[in-house]
Amino acid sequence: MSEPQPIYLSDYRPPAYRVTHTELTFDLDPAATRVKARLHVERHPDREAGAPLELDGEQLALKAIAIDGQPLGEDEYALTERGLRVERVPARFLLDTEVEIAPEDNTALEGLYQSNGMYCTQCEAEGFRRITFYPDRPDVMATFSTTVIGDAGREPVLLSNGNPVERGELPGGRHFVTWEDPHPKPCYLFALVAGDLKKVEDGFTTAGGRDVTLQIWVEEENLGKTDHAMASLKRAMRWDEETYGREYDLDLFMIVAVNDFNMGAMENKGLNIFNSAAVLTHPDTATDAAFQRVEGIVAHEYFHNWSGNRVTCRDWFQLSLKEGFTVFRDQCFSADTNSAPVKRIEEVSFFRTAQFAEDAGPTAHPVRPDHYIEIGNFYTLTIYEKGAEIVRMLRNLVGWDAFRRGSDRYFERFDGQAVTIEDFVACMAEASGRDLSQFLRWYDQAGTPEIDAHGEYDYANGVYRLVLRQRTPATPGQPDKRPLHIPIRLGLVGTKTGRDLPLTLDGEALGTDGVIHLHEEEQEFVFTEVAEAPVPSLARNFSAPVKLHFPYSREDLAFLQTHDSDGFNRWDAGQRLALLALDDLIAAHRNGVEKVMDGRVVEAFRALLAAEPDDKAVLAEMLTLPSEAYIAEQQPLVDVDAIHAARQFVKQSLALALRDDFLRVYEANRREAPYAPEPEQIGERSLKNVALSYLMSIEDEEGIELARRQFEADHNMTDVRAALTLLVHSSRDDLADPALRAFGEKWAHDPLVMDQWFSIQVSRPQSDALERVKFLMDHPAFSLTNPNKVRALIGAFAQNRINFHRADGEGYRLLADVVIELNRLNPEIAARLVTPLTRWQRFDETRQDLMKGELERIRGEALSPNLYEVIEKALA
Ligand code: TRP
Ligand code: ZN
Repeated sequence: MSEPQPIYLSDYRPPAYRVTHTELTFDLDPAATRVKARLHVERHPDREAGAPLELDGEQLALKAIAIDGQPLGEDEYALTERGLRVERVPARFLLDTEVEIAPEDNTALEGLYQSNGMYCTQCEAEGFRRITFYPDRPDVMATFSTTVIGDAGREPVLLSNGNPVERGELPGGRHFVTWEDPHPKPCYLFALVAGDLKKVEDGFTTAGGRDVTLQIWVEEENLGKTDHAMASLKRAMRWDEETYGREYDLDLFMIVAVNDFNMGAMENKGLNIFNSAAVLTHPDTATDAAFQRVEGIVAHEYFHNWSGNRVTCRDWFQLSLKEGFTVFRDQCFSADTNSAPVKRIEEVSFFRTAQFAEDAGPTAHPVRPDHYIEIGNFYTLTIYEKGAEIVRMLRNLVGWDAFRRGSDRYFERFDGQAVTIEDFVACMAEASGRDLSQFLRWYDQAGTPEIDAHGEYDYANGVYRLVLRQRTPATPGQPDKRPLHIPIRLGLVGTKTGRDLPLTLDGEALGTDGVIHLHEEEQEFVFTEVAEAPVPSLARNFSAPVKLHFPYSREDLAFLQTHDSDGFNRWDAGQRLALLALDDLIAAHRNGVEKVMDGRVVEAFRALLAAEPDDKAVLAEMLTLPSEAYIAEQQPLVDVDAIHAARQFVKQSLALALRDDFLRVYEANRREAPYAPEPEQIGERSLKNVALSYLMSIEDEEGIELARRQFEADHNMTDVRAALTLLVHSSRDDLADPALRAFGEKWAHDPLVMDQWFSIQVSRPQSDALERVKFLMDHPAFSLTNPNKVRALIGAFAQNRINFHRADGEGYRLLADVVIELNRLNPEIAARLVTPLTRWQRFDETRQDLMKGELERIRGEALSPNLYEVIEKALA
């Protein structure tokens, strides 16, 4: 096999042939499904006569091929590893092919595969080429007519995109349904589902008066777990009408839950297919976080109907066109239906931990990459989350009204087309009259910009000078960076009054909460009429995806934590304060010096616990210390043990000093009312469980008793899981083991709960975590071919920092072993799972060598293109 070759954005050419209509017939069989395709093909008017027809196709057994009804002789076409080529074709013709595929052998979960006996498809990005020969690229859009033939007993339900137009019986116990999708779409949005499924049905009337039938299809035992997804769907449909003026465009909208799925969910036209973990909920089986995740993903996939489906991507380099915009849309939706500040805090803490790490590692890439080997490797935090941050900056730059006009323009102008990121930004520029040319660099430049800020207050003249200097570190393939247009939202908080001071910049009044624009490498901003010495509150609400350094004293941070009018920055000031204290403790640990707790952090926490919170979920966030992963991101060289020890020390010191406060908060936030996934209850549960985690960190009898009782009360999964985690992560195996056993037996029948059971035990800090992983890999509920199980067991273990990074390298070895096996079974998952090993540069030399050794061992295998690309980058 030859080395996989990169594809370049600069090589883009429109397709020589387009398909205007696609007729498919599937005769389903686990080992030998027959797929007949009739493509209505036309040569592109600008292309020369005689251009060959090239179709993508992988792992297909061709059984028949004809053009305009004439079978082709063997010398009239050529089959390659990548597809099919016909040298001479008319300007307009019908192409008929028939192929055979084996869904039961498809463990990659791309194309047509089986999950729990049911058939389903996943075509994004390039799975359709495993179903039939086709121009598998998003700029070829066709209407589809699909007939699915299955066994009437085993597959009573036969689904595809659009509307069902015909159904009937066939000989031999077979039956069929024909579906028509009137909206032209690229083949990555094609879907088929067949199996013994049950549905929950509801309805929605659009603002324009269309009655839409809503269906969620699940296995029978999951019928009781669809309420939240259905309610979320209806809220999302209404929200998109009210916020973006976007209505649904078919009479039927279906969601199907499947157990084996590589990602969260997929926006196939009219037939969204979901990982069961992203749709099923019940108070007894799903946590608050899972309820919120389901709401967000249901909305995300629904919103794609416009941002992605009606207007799609010209090529896969433009992936963030649909993903960044759609993530931004689902983030705003969730902020509107939940506690908005908490939503933002959660987004940003995740972003700064995981996306910053990606941007700083060997797989760093721009939001619009200029080359790739395997597009499946580019469904990343950079494309999704950084893409969303860019859209958010755009919204803030032009203001909501212009943004909405730009969005209307975008949907109207490009409806039914496959377009680029420039097309999107151009609509925003036109609608706002702003020059966004420098802003566009955000899409093409990888790496996290860092801003060094300094401020100086001139008492005599009432002037505050703020100097900002930006730099973006080199990333692979991009040694030199240009300055970006970075919007910085800020306030100057008066140290006397504790209030935001009016901002006057170059004679212009910006209010008390203004935005300044950094365009140059270095810029000075001079604020006049500043009546008192201020502490600057910078990049409020995380106004740009950057690292902002300012030489805050601990007093400044404690001050901002109480006085900043921006809720997000109040939280962030607390995080910065905790990080300063953690830095000292990490150093103390490394130097073998006695650790001393910073009293300012204790006092800050005492004040937080004493105040009457207006948003309990926010308070819970403020009481949560930066995660070990986030602390590690701040360190020049990661010392996993020192970080763990330092964080543990802070937590226990706080618990010892403020034990009674935590107890009081715990008691004050217990509630007996029936579970509901609503903001107020969620806030109470978060606060209560954070308090419990402090009490359990010192393992005193009262804390243990509370955790045990909470576990046994069995009120809802949020509380049960929180208590179980604390018991299992404690040093008391006499508590951990019986609780785990009881939980495992109770939920043995429920795969989504068993995922949690796996994760909880392999993320414990005790040194037996690795042995537990090995042991659990033989558990009957575990399976390497189910991505959720792999993530729950192996993925969760790789996040267990002290145990994955064991000094003997056994954690790395285990991960590499699994990656090697998955390379054959499911390359997309293998390439994701290996990520922690690719971050070797961040660790000490011994660990570096161990990690690189495992990467080399993986490189010795016959690699899938997915893994090949990641490993080559990691070892470059
Ligand atoms: N487009 C999907 C989304 O973000 C995600 C997706 C891309 C996906 N490729 C996939 C899902 C492969 C499952 C499998 O909504
Ligand atoms: Zn998406």
